[in-house]
Amino acid sequence: MADLRSTFAGIKSPNPFWLASAPPTDKAYNVIRAFKAGWGGVVWKTLGEDGPPIVNVSGPRYGAIHSADRRVIGFNNIELITDRPLQVNLDEIKQVKRDWPDRAMVVSLMVPCTEDAWKAILKRVEETECDGVELNFGCPHGMSERGMGAAVGQVPEYIEMVTRWCKQHTRMPVIVKLTPNVSSILRPAEAAKRGGADAVSLINTVNSMMGVDIDAMTPWPPVGGMGTHGGMCGPVVKPIALNMVADIARNAETAGLPISAIGGIEKWRDAVEYMALGAGNVQVCTAAMIYGFKIVGEMIAGLDAWMDEKGHRSIEDFRGLAAPKVTDWQHLNLDYVVKAQIDQELCISCGRCHIACEDTSHQAITSMVDGKRKFEVIEEECVGCNLCAVVCPVENCITMVPLADGELDKRTGIRVGGHRTWMEHPNNPMAKATRKAKYEKA
Ligand SMILES: Cc1cc2nc3c(=O)[nH]c(=O)nc-3n(C[C@H](O)[C@H](O)[C@H](O)COP(=O)(O)O)c2cc1C
Ligand code: SF4
Ligand code: SF4
Repeated sequence: MADLRSTFAGIKSPNPFWLASAPPTDKAYNVIRAFKAGWGGVVWKTLGEDGPPIVNVSGPRYGAIHSADRRVIGFNNIELITDRPLQVNLDEIKQVKRDWPDRAMVVSLMVPCTEDAWKAILKRVEETECDGVELNFGCPHGMSERGMGAAVGQVPEYIEMVTRWCKQHTRMPVIVKLTPNVSSILRPAEAAKRGGADAVSLINTVNSMMGVDIDAMTPWPPVGGMGTHGGMCGPVVKPIALNMVADIARNAETAGLPISAIGGIEKWRDAVEYMALGAGNVQVCTAAMIYGFKIVGEMIAGLDAWMDEKGHRSIEDFRGLAAPKVTDWQHLNLDYVVKAQIDQELCISCGRCHIACEDTSHQAITSMVDGKRKFEVIEEECVGCNLCAVVCPVENCITMVPLADGELDKRTGIRVGGHRTWMEHPNNPMAKATRKAKYEKA
């Protein structure tokens, strides 16, 4: 059995699966049941400063994108931070941590952008003996209009300043939670590191509007006839988050900064993908809201079985293994050639591949052969784009087969085997300079 224990930014947990800061972590009743189900840790629902409690809307606050079989693949909310009194939350956090000492208890925080406000909340949170804090610089709705959340996370100078205050005023590990609503995730991550962050976590939700009710002519979710943008999460945001995690993991200035990956994680495999790109652990929100706390059982069992199968004894054995394979487009091998291959035994002759290829400009799949309905790849036209494999309803019916070294690409008339990137390609006007520089260096 593999060792699933995790140490993230100095915080220990029996497995790398934490619940993200959100409604499932907003009270002791929930967190205790989550721990009973097996979650390795939680980030408590974001606390704000003392004072009149936060007021949420008392109407629809969620929206969703459903798949054809009505699974929730995109989720959206317009909730604010916790609407329970600060002291109630702090007392519960303290008690739960005492009762569950082996689980990670991180507290998410969001207060106005003044040193005094951060100093005051950190002192009170420290008294709970929790394991660390997460600075919520990501919430894109409601709180951001009040100068908090994403309003801080979109300005690297603010991130650096607040992180530095927090590191000065607490001995606890500080995790900075980033917003994806920026043009590059690197500037905020670098700012967090400069400010002294022990780790970053990402992503928070993506600015979004889930739809428009075209009878009432109001955005969804409607609150008294009006609507507002919300934050989107769930499986549809995973590709955004994966890319951002990879960006941070391979950026020289943020190298080595621990990353807690969040976004669309439903299964153990999602977690492995994030960790393969360099994440130290993962956090889950939407999947726990939709399917309940017990999904962690499948995540733990699946990760354990996969690690055993691959011979990985600990998470560190495979963490980051895929990161060196991420590169920029200009460094891809333009001489690499694949062709689609259709397994005629599996083909149900639906014709989807033909339509997609025909109308996407390649015209590389037949619909008729010798007067009969038949779908065959025309190698002379196939550019290897894999659209046909994407649209085919039969798994593994269409595979992409690489041409071997020395084999003739019937489309271009060129023999396969070279390795030219755009940096060296003869069609690139700048390539001459690149080749010259390479030559001079050698
Ligand atoms: C209803 C709801 C409330 C949330 N509240 C918070 C919050 O208080 N603080 C926070 O940092 N993130 C909050 N989030 C964002 C999640 O922690 C997480 O970053 C995001 O949902 C992406 O993960 P997922 O795809 O697993 O849901 C909330 C998300 C949802 C859906
Ligand atoms: S890989 Fe692309 S070009 Fe080739 S057959 Fe499929 S859709 Fe057409
Ligand atoms: S999409 Fe797949 S199943 Fe349908 S015709 Fe093409 S190869 Fe056959």
